[in-house]
Amino acid sequence: MNTLHTIAQLRAAVSRARQEGKRIGLVPTMGNLHAGHIALVEKALQRTDYVVVSIFVNPLQFGAGEDLDSYPRTLPEDQAKLHEIGTHMIFAPSVSDIYPEGMEGHTRVAVPVVSEGLCGSSRPGHFEGVATVVNKLLNIVQPDLAIFGQKDFQQLAVIRKMAHDLCMPVQIMGEPTVRAADGLALSSRNGYLNAEQRACAPVLYRTLQQIAEKLQAGRQDFATVIDEAQAQLVDAGLTPDYLDLRDAHSLQPVTTATRELVALAAAYLGKTRLIDNLQFSLA
Ligand code: PAF
Repeated sequence: MNTLHTIAQLRAAVSRARQEGKRIGLVPTMGNLHAGHIALVEKALQRTDYVVVSIFVNPLQFGAGEDLDSYPRTLPEDQAKLHEIGTHMIFAPSVSDIYPEGMEGHTRVAVPVVSEGLCGSSRPGHFEGVATVVNKLLNIVQPDLAIFGQKDFQQLAVIRKMAHDLCMPVQIMGEPTVRAADGLALSSRNGYLNAEQRACAPVLYRTLQQIAEKLQAGRQDFATVIDEAQAQLVDAGLTPDYLDLRDAHSLQPVTTATRELVALAAAYLGKTRLIDNLQFSLA
């Protein structure tokens, strides 16, 4: 396994693999890999013959005052983990490889509607940054399959819509969230939590589970169920950013006719912003 840093090197390596008849897989990441990322790479290794993992902390998707500078950069540890599971190639470009003329006048990919609300409201420009860099990574690697985690539910919806609308010749796959034993979704940002916050963090997922249980038990007063859940988060010491119910396919607001739902939440624990979601069905 090699780590390549430039677009030209990566393209040459992937092109050799493709000439050998290999199916190409891509797992885009920002590094600081945990078991959730490793599950994505393992899935890509099962489904394709040559797996590229990109590691790039994309400044275009961070807003002013967010954690771009403190985001953990752990390339040697990431390389060791990826080597151990048989990854074929790491692509770890620098910011100037991806944005050689800077970000200011760079072309941006906007995916309307599905990017709006939820994280799109709290993090203006975030999904434009994500869609732009993922578009670039897909153009650089030209994989047959690209895999993303379902923890970033709205991000996955944005990427699927972009690939569909722009007729991109790639299969986009979402893989289930990997959780700690107490239910907390694995995230690189969990590392920001102190011991007390870490003990409290699983309440986010428990709250989503309780929303699902209440609706599955027949409650149709969605707004009250959400208010109860918000209150529970506040009682536990979290500051909710949003807590919402959406149609799991369209991400549009639910009605009493919606059968496939997703409860989505973002909340602050101290300065750390945690997100999570839970998909469920109603009979
Ligand atoms: O989910 C992430 O790690 C990032 O948003 C992604 C998809 C790698 C784009 O930078």
